[in-house]
Amino acid sequence: MGVFQKGWYENRVLPRVVELACGGEHMECWRLQAVEGLHGTVVEIGFGSGLNMGLYPSAVTEVVAVEPSLLARERATARIASSGIPVRHVGVDGQSIPLPDNSCDSALSTFTMCTIPDVEAAISEVQRVLRPGGAFHFLEHALAPDSSVAKWQHRLEPTQRRLAGGCHLTRDPVALLVAAGMDVDVVTSRYVKGPKPWTWFTVGRATVTS
Ligand SMILES: C[S@@+](CC[C@H](N)C(=O)[O-])C[C@H]1O[C@@H](n2cnc3c(N)ncnc32)[C@H](O)[C@@H]1O
Repeated sequence: MGVFQKGWYENRVLPRVVELACGGEHMECWRLQAVEGLHGTVVEIGFGSGLNMGLYPSAVTEVVAVEPSLLARERATARIASSGIPVRHVGVDGQSIPLPDNSCDSALSTFTMCTIPDVEAAISEVQRVLRPGGAFHFLEHALAPDSSVAKWQHRLEPTQRRLAGGCHLTRDPVALLVAAGMDVDVVTSRYVKGPKPWTWFTVGRATVTS
């Protein structure tokens, strides 16, 4: 099955599981660090069910959302309405964002760089749609720095990908952004509470180097 031809589990169940796993008060402090400093028009790749909507700073004037899951988009409706920030769903694939070059002031990914199949293509698209000087804010679970944990991440990754919509445990978002020519400022990287293969979190911002 292709990226957008999913079965019952991925269409009807997984978006709810993601909301439980990635939502909740314990995630808010991480999400707040990710959204801090976002302003103007923000492109959010993997918008999901809008869990960042209540946390966006007041300087954000519009969110352009890229999200393939119809159920997640439906479940975002109430959060969008109560945020007071206009949201345009512009596309379904971060690998090909239907926006003009230099059209966004900032960009955001929370727990999405792990899932997009060709993440290098998505980073390139974010670079294209960001205005010069615009920052790509990210919050991701990532490859752990400890070899014993990383070994388990590699072992568990095939099962994780099958059960969690293609989510990788062994991606290193900072290395990917640096390899794409971006200047990365890591705000925090550390383990959060929970099983270590899933809980090495990293939050930061990346800008295009001149
Ligand atoms: C783990 S969820 C995170 C959702 C949301 N960003 C959050 O923080 O709650 C990953 C999201 O990426 C979306 N996704 C999957 N493939 C994608 C793609 N090619 N382009 C953009 N988003 C994608 C999924 O539908 C899902 O909503």
